[in-house]
Amino acid sequence: GQTSFLVFSASLRRGSLNTKLAKLAALVIEKNGGQVDFADMNEFDCPSFNQELEVDNYHPKGAEAFRQRILANDAFIISSPEYNGSMPGFLKNVIDWVSRFRPQPFHQHHALLMSASPSMAGGNRGLWSLRVPFEHLGTRVYPDMFSLATAQNAFDENGNLNDETLAKRFENNLVGFMSLVEASKHYPCIKKA
Ligand code: FNR
Repeated sequence: GQTSFLVFSASLRRGSLNTKLAKLAALVIEKNGGQVDFADMNEFDCPSFNQELEVDNYHPKGAEAFRQRILANDAFIISSPEYNGSMPGFLKNVIDWVSRFRPQPFHQHHALLMSASPSMAGGNRGLWSLRVPFEHLGTRVYPDMFSLATAQNAFDENGNLNDETLAKRFENNLVGFMSLVEASKHYPCIKKA
């Protein structure tokens, strides 16, 4: 069947630049024949991780929701803000919670990372920090990452990227990822049991 992508922004605020980028990614995926499951990061809200809470196989609702959405789709795409050169704390927090399920849900799942920031680096350093837990957990993190610099000026009134060259690069990045995810569906040896 159709290849499905969980897409979400790791910003909680209304008016988020990363949410804009995530929404654009969703449109581009659909335009190229993919199926999108768009999530709101608020759905994945979890208390601060504390191992003492892990009695009787307890998992917070937000972690359970994130796990289910990962498993229900062929791949996931995160557009994440960069906070102090790193990922937002609540994103790391929910990754830690979800990593406690068995089987571990991130293992062998495809992921594409993107970011948007008003800065010139576009939040790219945050993505390198985000690769660390995902690589650790065995996620197939796509090598190419997309970082949108001066993002407050990058969108037109329809939510598309102003710059045509950049828009094409964005689409190529997504289509490359989509092809890999699709191809891997035909190779059960690299699919989760
Ligand atoms: C930031 N911002 C930021 N930007 C950046 O490019 N590098 C950084 O290290 C930081 N650090 C940082 C720390 C904290 C605590 C905040 C609140 C913000 C600015 C950030 O990129 C900007 O607020 C974005 O607009 C946040 O993303 P959303 O919410 O628009 O998606």
